[in-house]
Amino acid sequence: MEDDLRKIPPVKFLLVDDKPENLLALEALLRRDGLEILQARSGVEALEILLAHEVALALLDVHMPEIDGFALAEMMRGADRTRHVPIIFVTAAAEERNRLFRGYDAGAVDFLVKPIDPRILRHKTETFFQLHRQRLELEETLRLNETFMAAVGHDLRNPLNAIVLMSEALLEKSEDPATLKIAERVRSSGRRMAGIIDDLYDLTHARRGDGIPIARVVTDALSVVRKVVSEHEPVRSGAPITIVHEGDTIGEWDAGRLAQVFSNLVANAIHHGAPGKPIEIEAKGADGELVICVKNEGVIPPDLVPVLFDPFRSGRTATSKRDGLGLGLFIVDQIVLAHGGSIVVTSNAELGTIFCVKLPKAEAPESKPSFPPRAPGATAGLDGNR
Ligand SMILES: Nc1ncnc2c1ncn2[C@@H]1O[C@H](COP(=O)(O)OP(=O)(O)OP(=O)(O)O)[C@@H](O)[C@H]1O
Ligand SMILES: [Mg+2]
Repeated sequence: MEDDLRKIPPVKFLLVDDKPENLLALEALLRRDGLEILQARSGVEALEILLAHEVALALLDVHMPEIDGFALAEMMRGADRTRHVPIIFVTAAAEERNRLFRGYDAGAVDFLVKPIDPRILRHKTETFFQLHRQRLELEETLRLNETFMAAVGHDLRNPLNAIVLMSEALLEKSEDPATLKIAERVRSSGRRMAGIIDDLYDLTHARRGDGIPIARVVTDALSVVRKVVSEHEPVRSGAPITIVHEGDTIGEWDAGRLAQVFSNLVANAIHHGAPGKPIEIEAKGADGELVICVKNEGVIPPDLVPVLFDPFRSGRTATSKRDGLGLGLFIVDQIVLAHGGSIVVTSNAELGTIFCVKLPKAEAPESKPSFPPRAPGATAGLDGNR
């Protein structure tokens, strides 16, 4: 742990005062390990420093010629890069606390009245020092986790492929019913594990902010849906899965990703819907867009609805019937977003559960190849049920 901490860059504080002796005194009071103190003798100098450095705190003298502390604070609040930098104003008079400036709400603001009490100065600044340090540590941990996940996922794939291939070879060669049964179990567990690794990989991509990558080719969504259903039908008992369609279902989509969307929705309908009851899929093509809905009996537990599309939040709950990771709908949502589409869910006792995916048939001219992920906490469209 200590080794990790040492790799974390120093926390930077910016001191701004037109009087060099004040800067010296403040620096002497604040100096400590892990802290880099940057000094500016004017607002202009401060802005130059802020362009080059990410600072955890700015201590601004209010009285300075040309740009005073409040004017500098307004400029900082006006720029994305510095908007949230906490500010401590150093004032000569307590009344100056009452002076408001634009951007007061954007980040933490505090005051120190001269003559400065060294203990109060250290105490106030220490809090910001610790907060910034914790943020850097958290970012580093997240980065390591993502790298770890990508590396482990990658390295697991080869032995897993070998296991699945061997089980397939056994299924082909053996005639012994007991061996065939074991080989089938090994194959389906291996495939499930490969699916989990792929989901974790997609999660890492989506979380990094670059969204899930897609490659569009002319695709018939109806044939994708038919193939997905044919893969799920044999392992399902109960009423068949019906597909109805109308209009033109051809568009420019990533066929593999589309299969992932429908496979997740159909698997959810099978595993989380009322057992053995009918599942209906409806595909409607119109000018410029396609809507595909997957419907099953059974209701999504109301406590899940607000977090349905959040990763890991919806999987293992007291009410869920299967211990999936809870990544399926998050990935579905990300893929639909990457295509410029949207997903809406209706779930109530009268209608059952219906997931409807709406996809534009081609990429919008102004859009980028992939879309940023949904902001954390936000959910895709929800209907009924809330
Ligand atoms: N069609 C559905 N009918 C009823 N409940 C559903 C349906 N789809 C999803 N749910 C509920 O929403 C939860 C989240 O679904 P999601 O696909 O994200 O995760 P999961 O299926 O539990 O795990 P994973 O897909 O990662 O294997 C499910 O656990 C289930 O409780
Ligand atoms: Mg699922």
